[in-house]
Amino acid sequence: KVSNRLRNAPLYDWDELVQEDRVHRLLYTDPAIFDAEMTHIFGGTWVYLAHESQIPNPNDFITAKLGLRPLIMTRDENGVIRALYNRCTHRGTTLCRWDRGNSRSFQCPYHGWNFANTGKLRGVPWADGYAEKLVKDPKYNLAQVPRVESYRGFIFGTLNLDAPPLGDYLGPIRKPIDEWLDRNPGGKVIVCEANRLKYKGNWKLAYDNSGDGYHVVYSHRSLLETENRFRDEDTSKGMSYYQTSSPDSLPMYIQYMGNGHHFKDKRPNLQSRPGGLWAIESLHPGMEHVQGKLRQRYGERAESMLDLAGSEPVNINVFPNLSLLGNHIQVFQPVSMEETDAIWYGTMIEDVDGTLGEDVVKDINALRMRTQEGFPNFGEVDDITNFEQIQRGLMCPEDEWIYMNRGLGIPDRIHTLEDGTIKGPATDELFMREYIREWKRLMKAEPNIAIEREIRA
Ligand code: FES
Ligand code: FE
Repeated sequence: KVSNRLRNAPLYDWDELVQEDRVHRLLYTDPAIFDAEMTHIFGGTWVYLAHESQIPNPNDFITAKLGLRPLIMTRDENGVIRALYNRCTHRGTTLCRWDRGNSRSFQCPYHGWNFANTGKLRGVPWADGYAEKLVKDPKYNLAQVPRVESYRGFIFGTLNLDAPPLGDYLGPIRKPIDEWLDRNPGGKVIVCEANRLKYKGNWKLAYDNSGDGYHVVYSHRSLLETENRFRDEDTSKGMSYYQTSSPDSLPMYIQYMGNGHHFKDKRPNLQSRPGGLWAIESLHPGMEHVQGKLRQRYGERAESMLDLAGSEPVNINVFPNLSLLGNHIQVFQPVSMEETDAIWYGTMIEDVDGTLGEDVVKDINALRMRTQEGFPNFGEVDDITNFEQIQRGLMCPEDEWIYMNRGLGIPDRIHTLEDGTIKGPATDELFMREYIREWKRLMKAEPNIAIEREIRA
């Protein structure tokens, strides 16, 4: 049990800093608030850590982060997944310097203490009557995250013993996650390598933006126009889609799913083309060619293959650090108050029951990778530029407020559904208002944080 003493003093009046229609610039610029977030948000709630497909075999490991805490995600020889602190219990050096691998144990590069992939201290060099005591005392085992759970391959962890079970925490957002997975053979994806981007700005700028339908037409104009140019039919379609988002027609809506999560559904696009707005064939002139070849080679089957390869036009955010966008898994990793890693993992499908065949799977996966040409390769540059420029703009201490009041107070615009989720036009700032309320609740709460050193089977 970690003492709460040192971080108990309230930093600010959170109700003053987070109001119904605005938030204070300090949320993005104050290092003390950032430090508190690492405990209250990244320590206080479930955080996405890694995907099971990244450590499929016994003794596989991958390094990850929980807020700023470096972790080694291990699968032991019995298949148990653990989130170990990547920090030697002797003098604190990071133990594992590899991104991934397969190993039963980790040896500290400083004095050579050796730990099993369960976290257990196995031995130290030059025992001298000292090692025997150490290996018996659990306080020298690696610290580990006390609660690690998976939802359909997504591994989450929390340090907060009082957090609800993961399933309850995810709540209604499970449904779109299920749909996102169930379209693939065997209802699963394999995570592969990532586009690793970095920006000089606070992590929440990316989270705010991932539910922001308002910026799309303006910020991504060049991307939308490029896509349209490769479409032979209605050249204004991508743009008008966003522009006509009205409360009456709701061609595209945003749904706040509770606990800081969000879902944006763009699937009416599917009616005209598989893959929707970011359909693979519209991203690159070469796509048409690839697609044609696929149709030639596979005939009727090509259509459903293209659907599996294309970007599903949904956008799913799981607070605080996970976003499913198209067929990518995006992870937001805070580095400092003003620096963030934004990592875009590609995903592939597997020939689960052998009906697709090796060649087909290879072709589909190649096309899935090519969807990265739209996002992040082309479009994410627009977003990251915005984040960095916001961070700069917020360096004006007297100009304090950031507004997120679009749609607020307009009658009949936002609907609360039976399951408690809230639905409104995609261009409203509904998501930002709702999730920051959850952020405020967590910042006020006192998380019951603990680490574990006992090795459970
Ligand atoms: Fe790891 Fe000394 S710091 S063995
Ligand atoms: Fe964007």
